[in-house]
Amino acid sequence: MSEIKRIGIITSGGDCGGLNAVIRGAARMGINHNIETFIIPNGFTGLYNLNMLELAKIDLNRADRIHSGVAGSEAGHSRVKISKIKDPDKYEIIKKGLEKHNLDAIIIAGGDDTGSVMVDLINHGIKCVHVPKTMDLDLQTYSVGSDSTINRISKFTDDLRTTGLTHNRALVVEVFGRYAGHTAFRGGIAADADCILVPEIEVDYDVVYEHFKKTYINRLLTSDTKSSTYIIVVAEGVKNKEGKHLVDEETIDSFGHKRLNGISSYIRKQIETYMKQDPEWERIFKNEGLYIEDLYTYPEIREVQLGHLVRSGQTSAYDVTFGKQGGGAAILLLKNGIYGVTVVGVKGNDISYIPTEEAIIQKYVDLDEITFYESFGICFGRKNEYYNPNFINHEGKIHRYM
Ligand code: F6P
Repeated sequence: MSEIKRIGIITSGGDCGGLNAVIRGAARMGINHNIETFIIPNGFTGLYNLNMLELAKIDLNRADRIHSGVAGSEAGHSRVKISKIKDPDKYEIIKKGLEKHNLDAIIIAGGDDTGSVMVDLINHGIKCVHVPKTMDLDLQTYSVGSDSTINRISKFTDDLRTTGLTHNRALVVEVFGRYAGHTAFRGGIAADADCILVPEIEVDYDVVYEHFKKTYINRLLTSDTKSSTYIIVVAEGVKNKEGKHLVDEETIDSFGHKRLNGISSYIRKQIETYMKQDPEWERIFKNEGLYIEDLYTYPEIREVQLGHLVRSGQTSAYDVTFGKQGGGAAILLLKNGIYGVTVVGVKGNDISYIPTEEAIIQKYVDLDEITFYESFGICFGRKNEYYNPNFINHEGKIHRYM
């Protein structure tokens, strides 16, 4: 087993909370084991251009200046897939770059796309360990950044309630998450959203409208100041009635993914169309002293795209600790000759890991868990289903009572 003395660190894909904790954790663990760590800047772009770069060494003082609690990454990012680089000598160029800097291995923090590039690099003889990172929470393992994002979605959505109630508006809050709905689901639950729409469920817009109408009107009728609102959190990957993903403009990122956005404005228009055809709003608005002919005849709906805000700013303590575990564990794995794997976590004396090919298989929201929350009256864009749990005791025995 060749000794690992110098390691490059790459962070890649969409940035999020916890990446700086990964870098700091790796650097500090490295120092403890006489392994030097270096930042390879701007993701795989930096890796390909290593030959012409000077690398920042993360010694104790440099590590000290990396603030684990802020999102983003000191290392910088790009969305580049190595296999797509036209240059036929790209892998040789990368190897020469690693040799130039005497880098024995790389730690790569990223999501499924990044993980797939890592598998490619491993297949070309480059030693790497993967630290799971994505705000989308759609890997098989926990991924650093998700907790921070969910907290931010919850906070921003909750904050929006004040303006919703003040203007009697319904709000449609659109959040990142690509083709899985984990962050919308968990952020929406935490924010007491009335309706949560995720790509895992085909939306029945009739159901959404009926739930909106009932909830909004009930809130209005029971308010002594005639105030109401209704909050929908929608994942960007939800499809329209025709089963299509929505995009404001057909653009593809450099990794080859379609940029998704616009489902919130589609949902607003859908609900407005229903309201225009529903005479009950005029009656309710007149009864409640809200009606102004031609000007105010049914509630306003506004959409808000939280966009990159959910990945920025402060990192949760959970993500800082998980990030440090990931970075530190990656150093120890490489030192012990284990590579081509994804860190799962650290528990006591155990560092667990799985093959990266397995870690990056996309995980979707568990529909049974959604059914649990449907019991609280939250709308998920389908007719509520009945939650029929198994009860599992401390010996792992399953009972069914209901
Ligand atoms: O994969 C993370 C993510 O935040 C997705 O949820 C979102 O679709 C995408 O990145 C946005 O990417 P970019 O910052 O490149 O526009």
